[in-house]
Amino acid sequence: MGFDVPEPYVWDESFRVNYDNIDTEHQGLFKAIFDCSKAPGDGGKLSHLATVVGAHFATEEKMFAAANYSDAASHTKVHADFLAKVKGLSAPLSDDTVAFAKNWLVNHIKGTDTKYKGKL
Ligand SMILES: [Fe+2]
Ligand SMILES: [Fe+2]
Repeated sequence: MGFDVPEPYVWDESFRVNYDNIDTEHQGLFKAIFDCSKAPGDGGKLSHLATVVGAHFATEEKMFAAANYSDAASHTKVHADFLAKVKGLSAPLSDDTVAFAKNWLVNHIKGTDTKYKGKL
């Protein structure tokens, strides 16, 4: 998977999945990662990122359950792995860690979230 990572790191229409609540949360995830990238030593920004990531995954997983989405189990596992990784981080974040998070979100939305379009 190798989707282009926007620079500056801001959500754009190419990430739209057509559920307004999810698109709004995705914008917040971009901003949270952007903020961490600008202040890698700020533990508050990192804990905010963990909070919004956890809340967003819960939103999607609730929608999967409500729609009986067939890929819910595998998608939920991918969420859990990333959330565990984020929760295990501490400030200051390395450039590699910031790059990993930026790449992960881009590729998760375009490679995985996009599969539920029209199914939730
Ligand atoms: Fe998502
Ligand atoms: Fe997701």
